Amino acid sequence: MTATVIDGKAVSLKIKEQVQMRVETLKQQGVVPGLAVVLVGDNSASLTYVKNKQKTCEALGMRSDLLQFPESMAEADLLSTIDKLNNDPGIHGILVQLPLPSHIDEFSVIMAIDPQKDVDGFHPVSVGNMVIGHETLLPCTPHGIIKLLEHYDINPEGQHVVVIGRSNIVGKPVGQMLLQKNATVTFCHSKTQDLAKHTKQADIVIVAIGVAKFLNSKHLKPGAVVIDVGMNRDEKGKLCGDVDYEDVLETASFVTPVPGGVGPMTIAMLMENTVQSAENGLT
Ligand code: GUN
Repeated sequence: MTATVIDGKAVSLKIKEQVQMRVETLKQQGVVPGLAVVLVGDNSASLTYVKNKQKTCEALGMRSDLLQFPESMAEADLLSTIDKLNNDPGIHGILVQLPLPSHIDEFSVIMAIDPQKDVDGFHPVSVGNMVIGHETLLPCTPHGIIKLLEHYDINPEGQHVVVIGRSNIVGKPVGQMLLQKNATVTFCHSKTQDLAKHTKQADIVIVAIGVAKFLNSKHLKPGAVVIDVGMNRDEKGKLCGDVDYEDVLETASFVTPVPGGVGPMTIAMLMENTVQSAENGLT
């Protein structure tokens, strides 16, 4: 068996086309969807991500404000910046790029964002709504993974999904969203004993741990679907995921590449959340 390679770039393009049409419709009603991206400090990876988000916004006809502050910014100033954005009718989505400098409390910052504008889906209100299956803005990377599965007609209902990694950004929410879709979900993490015992039972494995080429064919049941959320550099400095891609190709039925798998979906879903928030504001 040779795995089907899941083309996240192609799926993300389709989603962005749909977003662009929704932007046009909103503009005819006098609304320009607006995203504010807040960046504190000069982490170069964060700056690249943020510029990408901005560029995509502009390509789809949306307003994009980048608010860049020095590493030394006081938490109180960040909170008042968020308050202003919460009250700005031209801004429909607020994204504070993580990680924040260590003197700023991440939880207080997330709590300050109006859940209606929480396009990251990180606010406890958004998380709670997601867990109980109530309509809400969903976190971008997990939602992107769900869309990829849908696009390739991979129905998680009744399937055993093993999620490796329990971050608040990916592992926990993607497991919850798949539970909502009637999957049987197992969460594995750094303290899990005999990881392969779990992953070998999985119909779908999602890896989000940030360890280059960690998962290989020995972890898999033949025909498993493999979703790689990792973004690492290998020993030669080449971009790679958490999955040993070449190694799993003959065992998996589907696999996401890195780059070009989950990554492009994250930005597409951020765009969709921003336009959704703008549409919500009309009703
Ligand atoms: N840093 C890494 N990923 C993300 C993300 O999805 N949202 C935010 N706000 N920061 C991040």
